[in-house]
Amino acid sequence: MTPAQPSAPWWQSAVVYQIYPWSFQDSNGDGIGDLPGIISRLDYLNGSADSLGVDAIWLSPIYPSPMHDFGYDVKDYCDIDPRFGTLADFDRLTLEAHRRGIRVVMDLVLNHTSNEHPWFIESRSSRTSAKRDWYYWADGKSGRRPPNNWAARFGGSAWTLDRHTGQYYLHSFLPEQPDLNWTNPAVREAVFDVVRFWLDRGVDGFRLDAINWLGKETSWPDNPRRLAWRSYYRQVHRYDRDQPHTHEALRALRASLKDRADIFLVGETSSDTPGGPAVFYGDGSNELHEVFDFRLLRSDWRPEVFRRLITDSDRAVPQGGWPPVVFSNHDQSRHIDRYGAGGDPIRRARAAALLLFTLRGTPFVYYGEEVGLRDGRLRRSDLRDPYTIRYWPWKAGRDPARTPMPWDDSPQGGFTSGTPWLPLSQDWRLTNVAREQHDPSSMLSLYKRLIRLKKHSQALTLGAYHPIDEGPKECLLFTREFREADKRQRLLIAVNFSAQPHRISVSVASLAPATTGTLILSTDPQRVEEDWNADQFHLGPDEGIVVSLQ
Ligand code: GLC
Ligand code: CA
Repeated sequence: MTPAQPSAPWWQSAVVYQIYPWSFQDSNGDGIGDLPGIISRLDYLNGSADSLGVDAIWLSPIYPSPMHDFGYDVKDYCDIDPRFGTLADFDRLTLEAHRRGIRVVMDLVLNHTSNEHPWFIESRSSRTSAKRDWYYWADGKSGRRPPNNWAARFGGSAWTLDRHTGQYYLHSFLPEQPDLNWTNPAVREAVFDVVRFWLDRGVDGFRLDAINWLGKETSWPDNPRRLAWRSYYRQVHRYDRDQPHTHEALRALRASLKDRADIFLVGETSSDTPGGPAVFYGDGSNELHEVFDFRLLRSDWRPEVFRRLITDSDRAVPQGGWPPVVFSNHDQSRHIDRYGAGGDPIRRARAAALLLFTLRGTPFVYYGEEVGLRDGRLRRSDLRDPYTIRYWPWKAGRDPARTPMPWDDSPQGGFTSGTPWLPLSQDWRLTNVAREQHDPSSMLSLYKRLIRLKKHSQALTLGAYHPIDEGPKECLLFTREFREADKRQRLLIAVNFSAQPHRISVSVASLAPATTGTLILSTDPQRVEEDWNADQFHLGPDEGIVVSLQ
């Protein structure tokens, strides 16, 4: 008997959609998005001919939380924050999502809890409490100084003195987010129980928050200093992140899932992790399935940078691992504004969309990007996120990228019947789902076409990536190729990063044996299917195309 072909895991051909629960859909008029709201919008995401067509949703944290960091400060890992609903709502969401072919990925915040989590309350209650070593406690230096110079990601020292017990606790982010002690096996076990809790409720995967922070050097040496403007960057983060026991913890987590090959793990790491994000794939089979690589997301819209980073990150992923492709999330300015700076933001966002769905990897769509939602132009008094507030107005911050989803052009964009927790982005009357749904030239229609194209093409989902080092320096060219037995499917992708049109020819050597094909998609809504020839073709300003090669 011939063994069955091992088929690719579901996430390798999936499109994942990130929902920021605060901002997707409010159902009860309190101005805050919630689970019943999400359920009411599932048809938009998948299940009907008109839907966007995504295969999974990743929900930013929905656990009970005092919301100092908008849910990334968890006070109970096994419940739902009442702002968002109840566990019964969650079960209904999972059921309704699954019915439409949408999987559910939870955000798992493992580096820290809220300071209101019962574990921390017990830990801080006395130096001898049974959970004292669930968190990191250390004595200060003489003169009321913290144990070392470590800086918190959101500013200030990473240590806060707890007056009651006279010791400092470590927090890599806000003081309201004490770091869990991952060297303690009891912590690990408690977290694995949490994982099992959600698996029993039917979730399909986890996005692991700030995963490279788990491991610290617990002899607490000072970090080396360097020059920079913000306190966090005035030191090299040599000892407070990226230590070996992160890998141990990830291997243990992966091993605990050995009977569940269908469960997806994607991790978030810093862009400057030594060795790059790829270190968290382990050997490709024993740590994470996917690891975000934020270098493209932090890059400018420049072809030479994209060319280098795409090729680098594609090669860095070991056999067995799979790259995610991500341009936007809830932590930075939306890419339509970042990539669009100094150019035509809409045309560039269309070209970026073409890359998002044609590069090798799992595309992550951040809610709203599919309609071309822009960063909100917020006033100081609108801000909610402590990090945005701290660095306002020097740094754009995170709130502008977290404004409500614009569903239609009604006064609150169809998001809420009350007052939204953050104001809608200024252009919601023009940029919204209702307006774009049936307009073939809209951003939304482009996303739908790209998603359908991706799903129907093994070259785009599973195919290899081959850069083409030819053509004008303003343009990026590559092919995607899938081979199986005598089947061979090849696509050429070309993107013009400039506002000038370009005539291009590609040599036979780069494309052999095919030199002709059919242009099947362009980001220019005016351009329709046409014959294509490698000798001579053109790209309009900021245009991207997909060609099916003969
Ligand atoms: C991650 C999250 C971010 C959060 C931080 C601390 O970077 O994406 O939103 O503030 O971790 O949990
Ligand atoms: Ca609500």
